[in-house]
Amino acid sequence: MCGCEEPRWGWGHCAPSPMLLLSVLLSAAPFGLLGEETRQVSLEVIPDWLDPPQNLLHVRAVGTNSTLHYVWSSLGPPAVLLVATNTPYSTLSVNWSRLLSPKPDGGLMVLPKDSIQFSSALVFTRLFEFDSTNTSDAAAKPPGKPYPPYSLAKFSWNNISDSLDPATMSATFQGRPIHDPTKAFANGSLSFRVQAFSRSGRPAQPPRLLHTADTCQLEVALVGASPQGNRSLFGLEVATLGQGPDCPSVQEQHSIDDEYTPAVFQLHQLLWGSVPTGFVQWRPVAFSQKQGSRESALPCQASPLYPALAYLLPQSPIVRAFFGSQNNFCAFNLTFGASTGPGYWDQHYLSWSMLLGVGTPPVDALSPLVLGIMAVALGAPGLMLLAGGLFLLLGHKRTSETNLNFLGTPRWSFLHTLGRDEGQGECWRKGPPGIAPLPLLSPFASNGTQRPK
Ligand SMILES: *[C@@H]1O[C@H](CO)[C@@H](O)[C@H](O)[C@H]1NC(C)=O
Ligand SMILES: *[C@@H]1O[C@H](CO)[C@@H](O)[C@H](O)[C@H]1NC(C)=O
Ligand SMILES: *[C@@H]1O[C@H](CO)[C@@H](O)[C@H](O)[C@H]1NC(C)=O
Ligand SMILES: *[C@@H]1O[C@H](CO)[C@@H](O)[C@H](O)[C@H]1NC(C)=O
Ligand SMILES: *[C@@H]1O[C@H](CO)[C@@H](O)[C@H](O)[C@H]1NC(C)=O
Ligand SMILES: *[C@@H]1O[C@H](CO)[C@@H](O)[C@H](O)[C@H]1NC(C)=O
Ligand SMILES: *[C@@H]1O[C@H](CO)[C@@H](O)[C@H](O)[C@H]1NC(C)=O
Repeated sequence: MCGCEEPRWGWGHCAPSPMLLLSVLLSAAPFGLLGEETRQVSLEVIPDWLDPPQNLLHVRAVGTNSTLHYVWSSLGPPAVLLVATNTPYSTLSVNWSRLLSPKPDGGLMVLPKDSIQFSSALVFTRLFEFDSTNTSDAAAKPPGKPYPPYSLAKFSWNNISDSLDPATMSATFQGRPIHDPTKAFANGSLSFRVQAFSRSGRPAQPPRLLHTADTCQLEVALVGASPQGNRSLFGLEVATLGQGPDCPSVQEQHSIDDEYTPAVFQLHQLLWGSVPTGFVQWRPVAFSQKQGSRESALPCQASPLYPALAYLLPQSPIVRAFFGSQNNFCAFNLTFGASTGPGYWDQHYLSWSMLLGVGTPPVDALSPLVLGIMAVALGAPGLMLLAGGLFLLLGHKRTSETNLNFLGTPRWSFLHTLGRDEGQGECWRKGPPGIAPLPLLSPFASNGTQRPK
């Protein structure tokens, strides 16, 4: 990896490459999203007649030629199935007696089977807590002394019918440990708020991820639980099914625009295959207050995905019911916060959001503000002026190497992030003076791909 790699939350190690600036300007037009513009979305709680009741939420998003099925359940650990079909008529079929049996295979099906274009699942298996008191290194793994983890399979969950809101197309799974000897969750809960969308847009709350009709948003929030230490950090273990023998890849994308999530320039993306495919997208940021703001922003770190032994993970009956007894599970950890800065300890609040979808992941277009600044900065009312500016820039050597912190990054610092490219293992500034390496065509295309070795 190159010298731009670290510190993780620092910026400005590489000077902008003039060619990259140019390519950014030329490709700034928002490119159209593939997939359906709008979908007919319905949320249905599939009832059972059991005690204790089990939650099964079916989000069905119908487009002209396709249907997406998101099946969320708190049967076992919280999990979601993601199934895309190439017909507007596919349906979900549930056989509760089989689903709840010790061999749930076939208890949950999307029919007709030959219409399925993509399917996978995410399972949220464990909540971790770490004592970061003596950990000053933000990148340390684990980020502190671990306390015993909470298995999310051993949580009890509310009746989601009560939180189903057709107006916002959302529902919330709220749970607490069944056995809670330390009474940590006496006044607290862990919640998974699921929201579907019939068209593209952006929520008012940070991180304001751009969604489309092909996506669902999940907001995970830990609220009111008593931490076991004064400086507790939390983490979440997520398991998924690989397509074939390999684990899905996690890419890190950099943008030059933090218009919607101040001071956060990265977007992490888990892709199950080559685009278009299923994807998970998130900003590496969590919040320690309900009103997510820059002051309450915490870094969120993701470990690489590694193959996981299925028998070591809490099993999700819905995953087993749909996929049968597969064993190509992969898992990764997300950890929220650092020992310094704001934290869960401030208000006993932590939230983090992600987007789950199928097709081409949504891409933020450059905001008009940033485009305006770039136009002014480069003095580019016309190509002539641009070319003039380019010559000036080419002759202009990098003068300072400010190392601004994650939270202290002024929003104008986007220029510093240009040319910062971890994944390619190459710093733009490493090229011979005056000769810029061939720029990538898209400002968003600087990907770092992490794969288990
Ligand atoms: C869940 O709540 C819904 C609506 O409030 C109710 O009809 C249903 O019986 C509840 N389910 C169980 C199993 O308690
Ligand atoms: C739907 O399928 C029809 C026939 O295959 C095709 O003509 C049409 O362009 C498709 N529409 C979309 C939105 O993909
Ligand atoms: C559901 O599964 C049970 C047990 O496998 C089976 O006996 C029953 O016929 C199934 N019901 C339907 C409607 O397919
Ligand atoms: C932190 O370090 C201090 C001094 O080395 C030690 O006394 C204390 O027990 C440590 N705390 C934890 C939680 O490890
Ligand atoms: C829960 O809240 C109640 C009322 O606010 C308080 O008396 C009690 O001490 C809290 N319990 C825990 C474990 O924090
Ligand atoms: C938490 O902080 C208080 C006051 O600073 C201290 O008395 C207590 O021992 C600390 N608890 C732990 C578990 O470190
Ligand atoms: C997640 O972190 C915990 C605690 O550090 C560790 O035991 C577990 O193996 C990690 N899981 C993965 C998939 O890295």
